[in-house]
Amino acid sequence: MEAELRELSDGLKWEKLVIVTGLRRYGKTSLILTYLNEEKLDNIFLDCRLLPPGMISMGSFLELLEAELTRKSWARRILSRVEGISISEIGIRFKERDLNSLISALHALEGKILVIDEAQELRRSRHRFDSIIAYAYDHLDLKIILSGSQVGLLYRFLRVDDPEAPLYGRPFKEVRMRKLSDEEAMDFLRKGFEQAGMKVSDDILEEARRFDGIIGWLTYFGFSMISNRESVEIIERRASKLAISELEHALRIYGLAEARYREALKVIATLERARWTRIKRGIEARIGKIPSNTLSSILSNLVDSGFLEKTEEGYKIADPVLRSGILRYW
Ligand SMILES: Nc1ncnc2c1ncn2[C@@H]1O[C@H](COP(=O)(O)OP(=O)(O)OP(=O)(O)O)[C@@H](O)[C@H]1O
Ligand SMILES: [Mg+2]
Repeated sequence: MEAELRELSDGLKWEKLVIVTGLRRYGKTSLILTYLNEEKLDNIFLDCRLLPPGMISMGSFLELLEAELTRKSWARRILSRVEGISISEIGIRFKERDLNSLISALHALEGKILVIDEAQELRRSRHRFDSIIAYAYDHLDLKIILSGSQVGLLYRFLRVDDPEAPLYGRPFKEVRMRKLSDEEAMDFLRKGFEQAGMKVSDDILEEARRFDGIIGWLTYFGFSMISNRESVEIIERRASKLAISELEHALRIYGLAEARYREALKVIATLERARWTRIKRGIEARIGKIPSNTLSSILSNLVDSGFLEKTEEGYKIADPVLRSGILRYW
């Protein structure tokens, strides 16, 4: 991912904001961490997946920030003179967990890099985190990296193209992560096995095509081979089950509507690629009438959360490992 690394590094040289996008396991977090490490940059890294489910309060966001500040040795020095912050052996704490505390912490962090990973999660809040990010962009000497695997939801949250939105018109750079080509994937695996001192036949490497060049799955495959010498089938089965459990977790927010999401995904997985009318017919054959606008919003939510991809030939499950899980275990 040398090119992506350079894009990120150059992006932050010229812009205050870089957005790193890519579906699950495309290597976003690793790219950002590698960049911060290589360039030895003081940073605050907030992983919004660690926020509790449901509505996100200012309290829980600040708790995440406290934990990260506590981990950074330089933070104590910088925050020691900031009002509203207490520093003790236990760690760094905000006396009041409110917006003012967040703003003063951001001021104190000037000159650093603020990373918000899985930033689309911040849409689940009464607080306008997009305004807070825009405030930091406009008023502070702070570089910001936002990242998200649910790319559509991330942009729905940031609304960079909406003239009414706080971040509208602010220049930024997007770094898009990608899958490896077949050749790159083979090379990646070959080198990995070589480093681990393990001989693996070309047939087995061929079979790893099913991981579709997704770096996270390739790593998962390589690691499982090296540590347990399992067959590709067994590894793929476990990977599919993992992908299914992530999908189920993500669908929970739809409550009673979840059943329809499930059916849509099953129909699309079965057909491999499916157009709108074909999906509608497929769902109706299984669970009865579905209003057109309901189906449209289901499909657009599934695309925005990265489970589906819309192509010229119709909708498809974006991750083949997930598709095989849906077909076999769901
Ligand atoms: N450039 C790379 N070289 C080697 N391994 C990598 C690379 N990028 C990512 N990986 C491995 O792939 C896995 C997934 O990467 P990572 O967590 O960075 O992806 P992600 O896009 O942030 O995924 P998620 O959307 O699940 O957060 C990790 O285990 C990581 O070690
Ligand atoms: Mg990540």
